[in-house]
Amino acid sequence: MAGRLEGKVAIVTGGASGIGRASAELFAEEGANVVVADLRDGTETVAAVRGRGREAVFIETDTSDEAACETLAKDAEAAFGGIDVLVAAAGISNWRYLDPEGLAPHEEPDPTATYLLNAPVEAWQKVLDVNLTGVMLSARAVARRMVAAGNGGAIVNLASIMAKVPLQGVGPYCVSKAGVWMLTKVLALELAPHGIRVNAIGPGFIETPMTAGIDEADTGAWAMRLTPMHRMGRPDEVARTVLFLACGDSSFYTGAMLHPHGGVFTD
Ligand SMILES: NC(=O)c1ccc[n+]([C@@H]2O[C@H](COP(=O)([O-])OP(=O)(O)OC[C@H]3O[C@@H](n4cnc5c(N)ncnc54)[C@H](O)[C@@H]3O)[C@@H](O)[C@H]2O)c1
Repeated sequence: MAGRLEGKVAIVTGGASGIGRASAELFAEEGANVVVADLRDGTETVAAVRGRGREAVFIETDTSDEAACETLAKDAEAAFGGIDVLVAAAGISNWRYLDPEGLAPHEEPDPTATYLLNAPVEAWQKVLDVNLTGVMLSARAVARRMVAAGNGGAIVNLASIMAKVPLQGVGPYCVSKAGVWMLTKVLALELAPHGIRVNAIGPGFIETPMTAGIDEADTGAWAMRLTPMHRMGRPDEVARTVLFLACGDSSFYTGAMLHPHGGVFTD
């Protein structure tokens, strides 16, 4: 049986790790060739895609850089002759998330703290640059080429439950993800006439390097209190939602956000 992305070309930003990597692997199983875009080395994901019998290339990309996003889209098109799908999964949880000395502040947030009043403005700016501006820049670089090619396409943006649920201590992240949610709706509106569907995913707490500090039984008890299913999700569980929104099974979805989140109340 043909895969659900047979013969398609997908760019996955943040494809070196976590949800992006799981999506790239599942896409390969469903017949897609994959362009892995990341700040960090994505060659392991490339090997995983090739191990599934599909072609892949790694393009080192900082998605918060406009020129880098243009180069990514141009080089992806040159490598595979077109782009059918973009998964925008590159993201950071806090401004120092990818620093070698970075912090992973996953302790229970202090209910009396006023993080947003005291956080340095660079912390706010960095998270917005990567999580919101980066999604806009990668989406539009790819969408321009999709529009020019005239074959339609699908864009899947990684937002979060925190697009809808405020959480103390991670204000910039929440605001960035709320922005991704509105960006998704605006792009869906503008790109619908071109046959390009744009949807978002708002996962709950998923086991990836980003949540490495959260332990279901201990440090993450606060996160599990928000999660009726009382466990972390797995990257492959999110990847199946990404696949749904990337392929024809979701042909009448655009401007929507789906929530693989174990029941966190977002409405
Ligand atoms: N893990 C969770 O619980 C969770 C929950 C909701 C939403 N998300 C979102 O899902 C997406 C993927 O997260 P993950 O959990 O797989 O994290 P991850 O850290 O495993 O993967 C994120 C990837 O993005 C890359 N990246 C970061 N900044 C970049 C930049 N400027 N340019 C290019 N690549 C960059 C990183 O190098 C990394 O490989 C993120 O947008 C995240 O906010 C994650």
